[in-house]
Amino acid sequence: MKIFLSVSMTIFGLLFIGWQVLASVDDDSDSHSGKRWWQPQPGVAPVANATYTTECGSCHMVYPPGLLPAESWRAMMAGLDDHFGENAELEPSTNQSLTNYLVSNSADASPYRRSRKIIRSLSASTAPLRISDLPYIRHEHDELPARLVTENPDVGSLSNCVACHQGAERGSFSERDIRIPGFGRWDD
Ligand code: HEC
Ligand code: HEC
Repeated sequence: MKIFLSVSMTIFGLLFIGWQVLASVDDDSDSHSGKRWWQPQPGVAPVANATYTTECGSCHMVYPPGLLPAESWRAMMAGLDDHFGENAELEPSTNQSLTNYLVSNSADASPYRRSRKIIRSLSASTAPLRISDLPYIRHEHDELPARLVTENPDVGSLSNCVACHQGAERGSFSERDIRIPGFGRWDD
């Protein structure tokens, strides 16, 4: 009886651990509330640079650096005089320090799970300037109808991540943090 009990406790323990590991696989909403030991690094690292938020957050959301490879950030920061048709030029010293921040926190440099997936979806020689053009990001949204994205006046384009992913600047893209304007929560 004792043996039976300890064997079943062991099995129960293993099942419990397995369940926790599985439960953590698609969970990246904890970037703001501390991690637990069984959880992999959440979505992408949150934005953590005040100059970046001020200088790069006036026209659109601040994109977490872990959403693009280093080469993309270098190319973007070298061409701010014609940034998607806008002039977003910075003082050379500000440009240098923001380039350092973006490159050292880029998807190549980041252990976070979404950053790894972004890098895996790219071939080494490509460095798109748009996050919304990354194969991984395109793929994740290919089933969303235009009426929810480009034809949705509160969204405008896929570039506006934070319109639907309320946790985007904190680095969370978990389904629990998705609310599409005019449509509501996303239950897959
Ligand atoms: C003067 C306004 C302005 C400023 C300042 C600005 N941007 Fe942009 N940015 C734009 C516009 C316009 C687009 C294109 C948006 C679109 O097509 O929906 C864009 C697009 C982007 C995209 C691509 C979004 C996508 O589609 O995935 C990234 C990344 C980006 N900006 C980063 C930056 C960074 C980094 C800075 C600071 C150095 C910055 N932006 C400052 C106007 C600006
Ligand atoms: C129109 C609303 C909308 C916009 C804008 C949007 N997303 Fe999403 N995103 C969604 C929805 C809905 C899903 C879930 C799709 C599904 O499960 O089929 C999703 C899924 C994702 C996923 C996968 C989440 C998971 O659980 O695997 C990532 C990562 C992601 N989006 C990142 C982004 C980024 C980065 C941007 C901006 C460049 C963006 N999204 C813009 C609605 C949006």
